[in-house]
Amino acid sequence: MTTPTLDIHLTADDLAAALRADVLRGLTAEPKWLPPKWFYDARGSELFERITELPEYYPTRTERALLGRVAPEIARAAPDTEVLVELGSGSSEKTRLLLSALSEGALKTYVPQDVSVTALTAAATQIAVEFPRIAVHGVVSDFTDTLHALPRGGRRMIAFLGGTLGNLTPGERAEFLAGVHEVLEPGESLLLGAGLVVGPEILVPAYDDAAGVTAEFNRNVLHVLNARLGADFEPERFAHLALWDPVNEWIEMRLTATADLTAHISALDLTVEFAAGEQLRTEISAKFRLSGLATELAAAGFTPHRNWTDPDARFALALAHRA
Ligand code: SAH
Ligand code: AVI
Repeated sequence: MTTPTLDIHLTADDLAAALRADVLRGLTAEPKWLPPKWFYDARGSELFERITELPEYYPTRTERALLGRVAPEIARAAPDTEVLVELGSGSSEKTRLLLSALSEGALKTYVPQDVSVTALTAAATQIAVEFPRIAVHGVVSDFTDTLHALPRGGRRMIAFLGGTLGNLTPGERAEFLAGVHEVLEPGESLLLGAGLVVGPEILVPAYDDAAGVTAEFNRNVLHVLNARLGADFEPERFAHLALWDPVNEWIEMRLTATADLTAHISALDLTVEFAAGEQLRTEISAKFRLSGLATELAAAGFTPHRNWTDPDARFALALAHRA
């Protein structure tokens, strides 16, 4: 095994400055909101892993089964791939299926990228043990603004799995996809994992599980604000809410104040007031239709190559090339 290398493009100071800016913007807005990337400190990443094992949360196991079936076809459709870059790689758990298939061909290097240094370090170390012939080069960065810092050289496939694309707003998505297109060279490829539109009777429980793990994940953003910005939120005084928005075709997670509440955020010298029942939006999780996905990819300049879906059409893998 070769020891994994780690590039840090986001220091603790960068993260603190970005968090302060987001919190100031989001918590002084009407209605209040926070970007979902702040869920993922060490505890948030662990809670997400627990979510992936819940009976109600079908996306991870559906994508894993799909990848298990089609990873060899994906590898054949991008046969010269030497470097697999994975954005928002988290635990890299499903990626092993792709790494195995691509290693039958030209794959030499795996570049997991994530904002969560704890998740990334654990995953990179483990992958290096399991795939001793693959060099592992982790990157700690924010995929919404530092794509240009990804390593170059060797024909690349960028994978963005798990449906994390759906956590971006439509405007952020367009900017993100155009940014990915810009950093790729002609002939390189993008593999997207995307949740598809299914009925609310399936979607809502996936984001509001009986054991309350998603509720705890949602409230974790307030723990992060307490720990990193010296805030004094009482997270248990906020109730978890998951709503299906049929117009935008996304799940929206919110935190509802269960009483009139006040929180002080020391690092910003800001006091934020919540009226009883007031809601704070913490995440959108958009679900896609194959036609819409193809349109978004084409708008960013990609040539869609092929989609694969599970038998219940709940999740898709879309492969596109940069022409
Ligand atoms: N791809 C994995 C993990 C999905 S969870 C899977 O399919 O299971 C979403 C991951 O994206 C988390 O690990 C989180 O830390 C990371 N993430 C969220 N926003 C990010 C951002 N702006 N930049 C980089 N990583 C981000
Ligand atoms: C990471 N992302 C794709 C998850 C999702 O399904 O939108 C995050 C999550 N939020 C609640 N449960 C899981």
